Amino acid sequence: MVRINENYDKLASSYLFPEIARRTKNFSEKNSGVKILRLGIGNTTEPLTPTVIKGLKSGVEKLADVKTYTGYGDEQGDLRLRKAICELYARLGVSLEHDEVFVSDGAKPDSANIQSIFNTASVIAVQDPAYPVYVDSNVIGGHTGKANGVVYEKIVYMPCNEENGFFPQVPKEKVDLIYLCSPNNPTGAVATKEQLKGFVDYATKNKAIIIFDSAYSSYISDKSLPKSIYEISGAKDCAIEINSFSKSAGFTGVRLGWCIVPKNLIAEDAPFGKINSLWNRRQTTMFNGASNIAQEGGLAALTEEGLQENQGIIEYYMENARIIHSALSEMGLKVYGGINAPYLWVKTPNNMKSWEFFDKMLSEAHVVITPGSGFGPSGEGYFRVSAFGHRENIVEAVNNIKNNLKI
Ligand code: MLT
Repeated sequence: MVRINENYDKLASSYLFPEIARRTKNFSEKNSGVKILRLGIGNTTEPLTPTVIKGLKSGVEKLADVKTYTGYGDEQGDLRLRKAICELYARLGVSLEHDEVFVSDGAKPDSANIQSIFNTASVIAVQDPAYPVYVDSNVIGGHTGKANGVVYEKIVYMPCNEENGFFPQVPKEKVDLIYLCSPNNPTGAVATKEQLKGFVDYATKNKAIIIFDSAYSSYISDKSLPKSIYEISGAKDCAIEINSFSKSAGFTGVRLGWCIVPKNLIAEDAPFGKINSLWNRRQTTMFNGASNIAQEGGLAALTEEGLQENQGIIEYYMENARIIHSALSEMGLKVYGGINAPYLWVKTPNNMKSWEFFDKMLSEAHVVITPGSGFGPSGEGYFRVSAFGHRENIVEAVNNIKNNLKI
């Protein structure tokens, strides 16, 4: 008889955001007429900018004319877009070749799929707390043992806490794949160049590979902070970088991202170029390329006008972050992040458990937040607030919290 992939049975619980949605729906059904304000999932709310809309429309119009119609494109992405992404990196002083850039339908699938090109015996290290996709995709891919309470066997958890400023020490043991996210989801902490250099040195010494998720890099306003791991010398020899148009240009629903796999990366059994060609093999086999319309939108987003317009939207969300930060701090809560990142990481009052506080926030203030424990064991006792939202909803949520949350 057919058997399932038993790794799915190792998964400890349902994926975090559907679980939040389920609890919120339950609450709504029991409390009809109550307006719920959502600061949970980091979902963009502001319309696409005029330049991006123009780009998307031109993509649609091309499909209406036999002279410009295109069917399948290159699985790796439209060459013009790959070159535009290289130019974006060139502004940071990073030089990439276009065949090191793989356009995709977003950072989430790339961060989930990248593990599949590495041996299942690879030891995985994650920041704790971390975006749940890194751990869950490795569980599904068979890189871990079973769940043991709140942790999985064979995963090295690198605690990020108040003491270390929410950035971990390099692992004491030898690991093979290291997931880093900066600006961090969920803590909002941003790694400095020195901190990243520590990991690049570790990876070089231990022949490990870093998977660097920079999906929120456009939220960095402090010029001293790195937006790409490739700003650190040596990183092109040991790091893969994943980024997206979701949070920088509002493409959460449009879907477009990219993954950089430098040819310099090597593994014990993979010489120069092989890891790059494995990802190419994976993508050409399992992916037919990002939507041609979305890619026209992405090209427009990377023009000077597109970047400038989207900067305005980023500043809008960051003003939301300031409003939330100051309100929660005034209430005496300990608030982290939200300065160079659209997420705020807040300690629950009175040492409450994260899910207990989630329920309290929902029932008293009618505001949805994300429980910190959903991101890993070190997230227990924290909650995450997303700054993505319409201003009036953010203000209403903050007022509800100030007026109705009993702490
Ligand atoms: C989040 O809320 O952590 C993210 O927006 C979810 C995602 O990007 O998949």
